[in-house]
Amino acid sequence: MTIRRIGILTGGGDAPGLNAVIRAVVLAARNRYGWEVVGIRQGFDGLLNGAPIMALSETVVHDLLSRGGTVLGAVNKGNPLKRPLRELPNGTVEYEDLSGAVLRRIAELEIDALIAAGGDGTMAIAHQLITQGAHIVGVPKTIDNDLAQTDVTFGFDTAIVTATEALDKLQTTAESHHRVMVLEVMGRNAGWIALLTGVAGGADAILIPEIPFDIDVVCAKIKTLRAAGRHYSLIVVAEGAAAVGGAQEFYIRAKSDMEGRLGGIGYSVGNLIADCADVEARVTVLGHVQRGGQPTPRDRWLATRFGTAAVHLVAAGKWGHMVALQGTNLVSVPMEDAIQIKTVDPNGDMIQMARDLGIVFG
Ligand code: F6P
Repeated sequence: MTIRRIGILTGGGDAPGLNAVIRAVVLAARNRYGWEVVGIRQGFDGLLNGAPIMALSETVVHDLLSRGGTVLGAVNKGNPLKRPLRELPNGTVEYEDLSGAVLRRIAELEIDALIAAGGDGTMAIAHQLITQGAHIVGVPKTIDNDLAQTDVTFGFDTAIVTATEALDKLQTTAESHHRVMVLEVMGRNAGWIALLTGVAGGADAILIPEIPFDIDVVCAKIKTLRAAGRHYSLIVVAEGAAAVGGAQEFYIRAKSDMEGRLGGIGYSVGNLIADCADVEARVTVLGHVQRGGQPTPRDRWLATRFGTAAVHLVAAGKWGHMVALQGTNLVSVPMEDAIQIKTVDPNGDMIQMARDLGIVFG
């Protein structure tokens, strides 16, 4: 088929490097294939709410490489293909599927193909639209690095650089005051940010969703360190971590139309440690600082590789495929295979290495 005009959208939570993807898509599409590129605002929602599209020329994108966030905007709640209509008397929610309206809008905008950059939620929506005839290819994105089929996603490196810098800063003040510092980082279902930050920043305990923790193990570690003369400790906790037999903690509970927002486990861990190890504990919740700011050079590089490769996927008509990094190779994988979470293997070599260093996982 002949391609004249392609669209790009960024779905889910933002990640440093999204703007670099947009820039790479525009430059490669124009330089290599002579296509026009337009941006869809606010993810798939922008195809429903009549938001004006953004014309993306080389001039518009020229300074996007180092800019965090996404100039197209992003939405990480709800799903236009499963939008809550109303709550039924029996307490269940009735949903409507607006895929017909999305497809009509794509046709109306004369977009021959769409590049969707996002996480598992965005890939799931894209995949559903593809089964109805849409021409979409995917670019994987998440700071959590938890998307299946790709070894790394851009945004992850920036997040761990930010989190490690925070842990380094906590270390100096922990040492001065003989305190236990707890750093809560992002990671809903996967502990990649916590694991890499914890190892890079010299944590004594790392608590991740994949390994339910026993706080007594953490306290024993702290006491052992104190007995040996080290009077401070660093603990990294992923927001999705939970105690053995316990549940994840949320600071906003799930409602019918949006997922709950995880957070608070860092404070619980801090309180438990203060009690059981009889120490002074302080808690830092890093939050969205991890998602903001300029992408690292490594993330700019990966985002640029992904964006360019996605343009080639469009040229090849590989609808339903997502670009991915496997080892050092850029490959394309069926999107449906990527609609699942890639977690840390509790018995894998990375956890074993950390244990070899004396790090406890609770
Ligand atoms: O991008 C993924 C993520 O960073 C999760 O780790 C976190 O739980 C979530 O986004 C936070 O989303 P929001 O921006 O809606 O608070």
